[in-house]
Amino acid sequence: MQQLLAKPVVEAVHLEVSDRVSRFKAKHGRAPGLAVVLVGDDPASVIYTTKKGQAAVAVGIHHETVEFSTQSSESEVIAAVRKLNLNPKIDGILVQRPIPKNFDAEASLYWVDPAKDVDCFHPINVGKLAAGLPGLRPCTPMGVMRILKHYGISVAGKTACVVGRSNIVGKPMAALLLEANATVLHCHSQTKDLMKLTRQAEILVVAAGKPGLVTADHVAKGAVVIDVGIHRNAAGKVCGDVDAAALAGIPSAITPVPGGVGPMTIAMLLANTVTAAEMRES
Ligand SMILES: NC(=O)c1ccc[n+]([C@@H]2O[C@H](COP(=O)([O-])OP(=O)(O)OC[C@H]3O[C@@H](n4cnc5c(N)ncnc54)[C@H](OP(=O)(O)O)[C@@H]3O)[C@@H](O)[C@H]2O)c1
Repeated sequence: MQQLLAKPVVEAVHLEVSDRVSRFKAKHGRAPGLAVVLVGDDPASVIYTTKKGQAAVAVGIHHETVEFSTQSSESEVIAAVRKLNLNPKIDGILVQRPIPKNFDAEASLYWVDPAKDVDCFHPINVGKLAAGLPGLRPCTPMGVMRILKHYGISVAGKTACVVGRSNIVGKPMAALLLEANATVLHCHSQTKDLMKLTRQAEILVVAAGKPGLVTADHVAKGAVVIDVGIHRNAAGKVCGDVDAAALAGIPSAITPVPGGVGPMTIAMLLANTVTAAEMRES
């Protein structure tokens, strides 16, 4: 069972992005710029924001973090995002989620200029993906596609099954697989016989947010299993949506948790920032 590790893929993406940044700087006299907006002091969000900033700097991307305290009002945050929308040095803007519960989550999807929406949350970008139009693509599903490409796993013509239909992972994942000419089965919590569908998959992507949901009985012999889930179990160990230990000898390849899909999200955010910069200057 091959382990589809993120490390070499992330290294390849970083090299590619650094090269694109150098060429962008030579052509336009500035680095692509990424702004991260953080509201509050949620420990996980603070860690993610710091990691995003460090990764951006490491590949030569100009980076700014705009921080707001938990007491900040929604209108203050919106005003800052609007300023970033107009800032010519900034090509990508990301509002770190979760945002405070008293903010209008639906309205927040429209805050960032679609041309700078490196998370691909704006309904215009969601629509472009659904319509197969060129544009920015969401980071985590794009990271999965990049892992498949890096390890030479073909998608066209294969039966893929996606478990989960969130706007962040499941739906765009199914759209990207379809765009890559897979035949896509799409499951969710109301799916009647999950096992019957997952067992048909040659590529099984699990993003259900349920630790250990997928067991040996869900997986066909020789399938490629991509585990997007991230959890901490009772013993404090990081684990995924797939019970990987129980799958030994069944799939041909699997992404481990940790070290599989997780690190891809930030790598693809960097790639998206450069893509946004190139599109804005073209
Ligand atoms: N960088 C990364 O690696 C990364 C990024 C994002 C998320 N994640 C992880 O990926 C996982 C999923 O994230 P998310 O944001 O997509 O979660 P989410 O918003 O909670 O969505 C979970 C999806 O799974 C479906 N589901 C739940 N239980 C199910 C079951 N028993 N059978 C079939 N489908 C089921 C839900 O169906 P309904 O729609 O019917 O409720 C829902 O569509 C989480 O563990 C998260 O931490 C990782």
